[in-house]
Amino acid sequence: MESIIVKGGRKLSGEVTVGGAKNSALPLIAATLLAENGRTLLENIPDLRDINTIIRLLAGMGAEITRSEGKLEISTTAIDNCQAPYELVKTMRASILVLGPLLARFGEARVSLPGGCAIGARPINLHIKGLEQMGAEIEVEHGYIIGKAGRLKGADISFDLTTVTGTENLMMAAALADGVTHLRNAAREPEIIDLAVCLRKMGAKIEGDGTHTIIITGVEKLTGCEYQVMPDRIEAGTFMVAAGISDGDIVIKNTPLAALDGVVSKLQEIGLEIEPLTKFSEDQPLAGIPVRIRRRNSTLQALDIKTMPYPGFPTDMQAQVMTLLTLISGTSVISETIFENRFMHVFELQRMGADIEVDGRTAIVRGVEKLSGAPVMASDLRASAGLILAGLAAEGETVMSRVYHLDRGYSGFEKKLKALGANIKRIKE
Ligand code: EPZ
Repeated sequence: MESIIVKGGRKLSGEVTVGGAKNSALPLIAATLLAENGRTLLENIPDLRDINTIIRLLAGMGAEITRSEGKLEISTTAIDNCQAPYELVKTMRASILVLGPLLARFGEARVSLPGGCAIGARPINLHIKGLEQMGAEIEVEHGYIIGKAGRLKGADISFDLTTVTGTENLMMAAALADGVTHLRNAAREPEIIDLAVCLRKMGAKIEGDGTHTIIITGVEKLTGCEYQVMPDRIEAGTFMVAAGISDGDIVIKNTPLAALDGVVSKLQEIGLEIEPLTKFSEDQPLAGIPVRIRRRNSTLQALDIKTMPYPGFPTDMQAQVMTLLTLISGTSVISETIFENRFMHVFELQRMGADIEVDGRTAIVRGVEKLSGAPVMASDLRASAGLILAGLAAEGETVMSRVYHLDRGYSGFEKKLKALGANIKRIKE
């Protein structure tokens, strides 16, 4: 097991580059299952545990994959089975993203139920309901989703809830369906646009991505393409908070600023200066640009946060901003509307001296003068990032165990923070 040790008090400075977006790379890799011929070359793939998991998943189906640095070359012409086994799916819920492509291309799939995870039950009923509307027959037995389908048919699908991977799964399935599919109340996350742009390069006919209604006209087949994954907006947001909490002054060289409206507006309201150093190009809004972050003045402002589907404030930034708010005098109220159990970091922050009261999906944060370093335990991916940010500002030493949670979504996080001046290292226990 590994731990990360942080000694607080350093002001971060310098430049940092964020990796490719985990939540874009995962559906993009799943989408290669749709390509009947040709190889797909994906660039700017982040080096993360979750990426390794989905690569193992596709390789187990017979995909030919070569990986060098941040590049993945995938051919799925030789797929010889459509199984996604429990051993892999249980470590990464996003494995469910292979279900739509497998049914669309091969007419069959046997995918382990993902099961819940630390932050909530996270059902996939909306994925299954949409696929059944497209003509798939789906049984659930012995913990597996067993799907069968002739050629899927276009359907008019309205999501009861906005679901990111549900939208992605059904957009991929509809790309090869017979007829037109409408996805209503679709998620609008930038990663969905990234996926749609790549699918169009593979030959898919998709419009409306990034809006609440996506229209997909199915085609007979798709072919491989070359595509560059967008920069990770959540990693960028995490470094923005790192600059704020350490009273530092940093430049994030490839910030997908256009994908961070909900985060930037709140951090500016708190009192951070977020200054783009060049203009982003209108025709490539998801590309990264250099952005400088520092405090506008010494006192920061407490405020209320409510997590919402994009373009609202993202739930994946809730733990990180809560950490910042614990040190800002006044009272901040955080409402977590997306997941039912995404406050596990609260108990660890309380051990560091934070004054937080949880009532269901609401956390009341009262600012304290200081946090004190302590041994803490990571519970999920974004909570672990939040605890490290707390360690940057705490007095003394913080030791965070269960670092594998962090490695699922952040590549070399402690190395990047160390390069910005933090007193941080990883140890093997
Ligand atoms: C995606 O998860 C992200 N993961 C999550 O990021 C992110 O927190 C989440 O979207 C919300 O933005 C990936 O993209 C791989 P949802 P997803 O389906 O798609 C309910 C991270 O830290 N729901 O949008 O699984 C669900 O329970 C991870 O990088 C149903 O009820 O989330 C939740 O309350 C964590 N039935 C809400 O919808 C369904 O069939 C939104 O979930 C599907 C979802």
